[in-house]
Amino acid sequence: MRKVLIIGGSHGIGKALLKELINENHCINISRTPSDVSHPNLSQFELDITQDELPDIDQVDSIVYCPGSIVLKPIGSLKEEVLRQDFEINVVGAFKTIKKYHRILKKGVNPSVVLFSTVAVSQGMPFHTSVAAAKGAVEGMVRSMAAEFAPTIRVNAIAPTITDTPLAANLLRNDTMREKMKDRHPLKRILDGDEVANMAAYLISDKARSITGQIIGVDAGMSIVRN
Ligand SMILES: NC(=O)c1ccc[n+]([C@@H]2O[C@H](COP(=O)([O-])OP(=O)(O)OC[C@H]3O[C@@H](n4cnc5c(N)ncnc54)[C@H](OP(=O)(O)O)[C@@H]3O)[C@@H](O)[C@H]2O)c1
Repeated sequence: MRKVLIIGGSHGIGKALLKELINENHCINISRTPSDVSHPNLSQFELDITQDELPDIDQVDSIVYCPGSIVLKPIGSLKEEVLRQDFEINVVGAFKTIKKYHRILKKGVNPSVVLFSTVAVSQGMPFHTSVAAAKGAVEGMVRSMAAEFAPTIRVNAIAPTITDTPLAANLLRNDTMREKMKDRHPLKRILDGDEVANMAAYLISDKARSITGQIIGVDAGMSIVRN
């Protein structure tokens, strides 16, 4: 059975992915709070990726790193400290994970890594400086690692638009905000965690065995379509 390590499988997109994979794969979840999914194919470690040592694992075929941030602030009130925290959770956490497991991952079956960017990297949205800077670094890391690990480990990222998860709850907290958010997108919808998780499941599958170094938009048309 394939082993998939999900960092951040307790909530949001990571949880949706865990639920999608758990019947056919052994899933290892690492998050600060445990997943409420109970299944014989699930093992879990509770830790903070920015603070704690990662556990040793004897086999892993895919790694999906989900922790991230959405701090939206005008430059005048954006603190350097927040920029550094965004870098820690989005970039350093992902780097630490891949550094820890890349040797064991290399021995896996069709081994791969999926990271998360955001549509805000390519679109230049106001108040997104901190998250766009951190996720821009994630995108650079994806391309560099894809080159370094080829032909063995594939490395890709998904760049979603706003997705209905605990991370985005504050931006979708009432009907007016939800309607405005929908209206900004050519497809007039807000994503749910499942549809982004579907893309992650595809990218770690054999069907994506020729895909590496890519940043895949799952964004209701936001990055490309004008209407
Ligand atoms: N949702 C959106 O609108 C949106 C848009 C664009 C990009 N993205 C990106 O997509 C990715 C997934 O987003 P999401 O909305 O699913 O996020 P989420 O709802 O916040 O879920 C994040 C997961 O990561 C875990 N996590 C967070 N900090 C952690 C830490 N320090 N140590 C260990 N685990 C930690 C959380 O579990 P615990 O709290 O239990 O630790 C949770 O399971 C993120 O990288 C995000 O930046 C999301």
